[in-house]
Amino acid sequence: MKSIKVGLLGIGTVGGGTFKVLQRNQEEIMRRAGRGIEIAMVADRDMERARSITNGACEVVNDANLVVSHPDIDIVIELIGGYTIAKELVLKAIANGKHVVTANKALLATHGNEIFAAAHAKGVMVAFEAAVAGGIPIIKALREGLTANRIQWIAGIINGTSNFILSEMRSKGLAFGDVLKEAQRLGYAEADPTFDIEGIDAAHKLTLLASIAFGVPIQFDKAYTEGISQLTAEDIRYAEQLGYRIKLLGIAKRTEAGIELRVHPTLIPAQRLIANVEGVMNAVLVKGDAVGATLYYGAGAGAEPTASAVVADLVDVTRLHTADPGHRVPHLAFQPGSLADTPILPIDAVISSYYLRMRVADQPGVLADITRILADGNISIDAMIQKEPAEGEAQTDIIILTHQAQEKNINAAMAAIGKLSTVLSKVTRIRMEQLN
Ligand code: HSE
Repeated sequence: MKSIKVGLLGIGTVGGGTFKVLQRNQEEIMRRAGRGIEIAMVADRDMERARSITNGACEVVNDANLVVSHPDIDIVIELIGGYTIAKELVLKAIANGKHVVTANKALLATHGNEIFAAAHAKGVMVAFEAAVAGGIPIIKALREGLTANRIQWIAGIINGTSNFILSEMRSKGLAFGDVLKEAQRLGYAEADPTFDIEGIDAAHKLTLLASIAFGVPIQFDKAYTEGISQLTAEDIRYAEQLGYRIKLLGIAKRTEAGIELRVHPTLIPAQRLIANVEGVMNAVLVKGDAVGATLYYGAGAGAEPTASAVVADLVDVTRLHTADPGHRVPHLAFQPGSLADTPILPIDAVISSYYLRMRVADQPGVLADITRILADGNISIDAMIQKEPAEGEAQTDIIILTHQAQEKNINAAMAAIGKLSTVLSKVTRIRMEQLN
């Protein structure tokens, strides 16, 4: 059978990796896909780079429009990134009847509903395994492998840059700013690292996972997002003394009231496997009612790991290219007409346990005042440590771990504690999950 023809938009790190993996493993891939998969056109603004990678194996152009409208192209791989041009090109490719493979989580988290609706109307596929956790086949696992389950929750380390920073802060006792510089020097963090360190990249990915897990539309605007830039080495150290590690987790949880969708630094018990995921690696823990907890671990970025996901999508699309669109796996795992309108809960309504740290004057009654406020807010204390004041100092740190409480009660208690004249710092709050 004739090879399926692919047009590649953007031949940077992931595009280059995709080209290489497809070439290196072409025989094996053909045996799996049932026909050859050929990158026939590449569009990139840097044509010299594109030519040096493709080495005459395909046509190179600098206008991506030529690819998405070329009659011979069956599948378009979008690796340009961003929202504007990428969105135009993806919609144009769909309108022209091409299937799309993309790694663009920002695009899908913000415009996915529109893009999937357009693809559904046109009877083409939009595959996005590479958009979440790089090489880990988490979309496939959730959408197909776990399809028997009612998913209860997902908790994932889905941003490698922030995990690298937290790992370094913990193992070397360094400050956030110093490790960020190191991450930039190593090429992990972007020159503008905001999306990585402020949890936005993780929230994009979590939003997609939540839709697939719970069968709800993509709602990135309702995700609560808090990054790691305010975390101190001190909190990481205290957490460790209490038997916890701090990770930037994306958490999507089904509750009776609705769906929790939140990204924030989280204390997790140090003995959990996911607590020991270090450096730039990613991991996603999924709890299904039938299977129980399953854990997926691997490289969340990088040329070939991400290419592994892109090529897997190419093989899937190739196999299903001629299938009746109604017989394909739905984009968001649930049939488009069966998405639920379960509300996404505001962060105030979330139930979690909490780590609270405050600097206090070392004098009688301080602890009693604080615990009284917590008791009045119906917040139960799970554990507590008070440091001995340093030599010659009349102040010290108190760290309190709470049992589960509603976030709005914690906020009220923090505000009341902050007003005590004996509390000398703002109260630091980090959410805590047992993940059991
Ligand atoms: N910037 C992402 C990370 C990789 O640090 O995990 C691509 O999703």
